[in-house]
Amino acid sequence: MERLLLKPRTLEHVKIFWEKSQDQEIERMFPFNKGTLNDAIKLYEETLKPDAKSFGKVINIDNKYIGDVWCYGIDEAAEKQAFVSIIIFDKTYWGKGIGKDALKQFSKLVFERYAVSRLCAFTYKDNKRSIATLESAGFKKLEEFKENGIISCYYELLEL
Ligand SMILES: CC(C)(COP(=O)(O)OP(=O)(O)OC[C@H]1O[C@@H](n2cnc3c(N)ncnc32)[C@H](O)[C@@H]1OP(=O)(O)O)[C@@H](O)C(=O)NCCC(=O)NCCS
Repeated sequence: MERLLLKPRTLEHVKIFWEKSQDQEIERMFPFNKGTLNDAIKLYEETLKPDAKSFGKVINIDNKYIGDVWCYGIDEAAEKQAFVSIIIFDKTYWGKGIGKDALKQFSKLVFERYAVSRLCAFTYKDNKRSIATLESAGFKKLEEFKENGIISCYYELLEL
């Protein structure tokens, strides 16, 4: 059995992630912000500040870096919520149960680390693997909406 570990993100991971996620199939599945490598590095540096509104971990299997799981829009004061995303950029590891385990571990970590009681996530409706991953990790669908002709779903996980 492969060993899954969530590890701290370093600048080197940010560079690898940016390069590996320049992938049309992943871009079609996931509406993430496509900036330059410099933008990605600046965002990473923001996460190192004490009052950072985002936090991420890298997904490692048997010591191999295969993806990232992170949260953003952390709001401990008013809404007590954060938004979560996950990408395994190494497609040879898709469909092996790693995504759902990583998301479960990461959700637990965020609830322990931050004063939030709700995790929120968006996904495209036709991204069946992403939907199954969210539902497997306990997220419930609250809404469907159409944006630029694409149907998206809004999910939430409440702290137990
Ligand atoms: C989404 C992603 C993180 C899922 O990780 P993964 O390791 O491939 O997923 P898992 O193997 O853990 O499978 C999770 C669920 O999807 C199901 N699944 C796997 N392949 C599937 C497929 N082709 N179609 C439908 N469901 C599928 C699994 O059966 C499992 O559900 P279950 O627990 O009910 O059996 C990964 O595929 C990825 O990085 N995709 C591109 C980026 C993306 O879409 N991110 C999601 C943004 S929220």
